[in-house]
Amino acid sequence: MRNLIDITDLSVDEINDLIKVGEDIKKNKAKYAEKCKGKQLATLFFEPSTRTRLSFESAMLSLGGNTLGFSSAQSSSTVKGESIADTIRTVSSYVDIIAMRHPQEGAATIAATSTKVPVINAGDGTNRHPTQTLTDLMTIKEAKGKLSNFCIGMCGDLKYGRTVHSLVEALSRYENIKYVFISPKELKMPEEVLNILKQKNIEYTEVESIEENILNLDILYMTRVQKERFKDEKQYERLKDVYILDKEKLKNAKKDLVILHPLPRVNEIAEEIDNDPRACYFKQVENGKYIRMALILKLLNQ
Ligand code: CP
Repeated sequence: MRNLIDITDLSVDEINDLIKVGEDIKKNKAKYAEKCKGKQLATLFFEPSTRTRLSFESAMLSLGGNTLGFSSAQSSSTVKGESIADTIRTVSSYVDIIAMRHPQEGAATIAATSTKVPVINAGDGTNRHPTQTLTDLMTIKEAKGKLSNFCIGMCGDLKYGRTVHSLVEALSRYENIKYVFISPKELKMPEEVLNILKQKNIEYTEVESIEENILNLDILYMTRVQKERFKDEKQYERLKDVYILDKEKLKNAKKDLVILHPLPRVNEIAEEIDNDPRACYFKQVENGKYIRMALILKLLNQ
């Protein structure tokens, strides 16, 4: 049984096919309205979420299926001491597919080995977030018409941001992508992720200034400084507003720059940017639903 725990669980061809299906769903919603009739999705969110949980639920409802689940560990028997494995084994008696978010790195892998129904990793700690990556890839394809030959800047909390870890892993399998990692030294991309690029001899640079590097970028992927991952609150306070993208910083950017952000944002993109045609982060939000519909269909029809 196939799960989606890490983006590398999908081949490049499978990712490209999912994007095609996502694009078709976006154009022809009615065609898919009953594809999952009689099927049930569980959304088990041990960590807060707005987009991922609600887009999964909206995706399943728009496919004619149903959903159940919880949006906080506090409302599950986890608070009584139940293990991830037992929770998953229990829920899989009730549903056909599970999407799970958990604060512990590797939790989705434990879940997948505890059930025969497909498990989708909706974010595991600071590790990976593969369905956000599918969303990002669909949005890049929509904006640029391709998933190759561009320079992407990733900016902000590259240490704790699971979305950028998954996105690097995915894009490392496409042709001629250049990476500029923009972060303070405390929040640099982890070695484990850089090693993916080193092993493939893919070039990247690590810098601290957004202003000095923005002119080279085709895509700028902003990220939130992940307050919930910091052990030292003073360090968070010192770093939280280190990058704020505003009109002034975009002065030297390309006219066709694509600005992405997985959201939620705090201060890292000024609201004055939201109406700039280069701002694509609310398109990401919308595409997240369609690509998750495509993924549910794929995993239930295998
Ligand atoms: N992008 C993302 O994972 O958002 P949520 O935390 O709101 O699900």
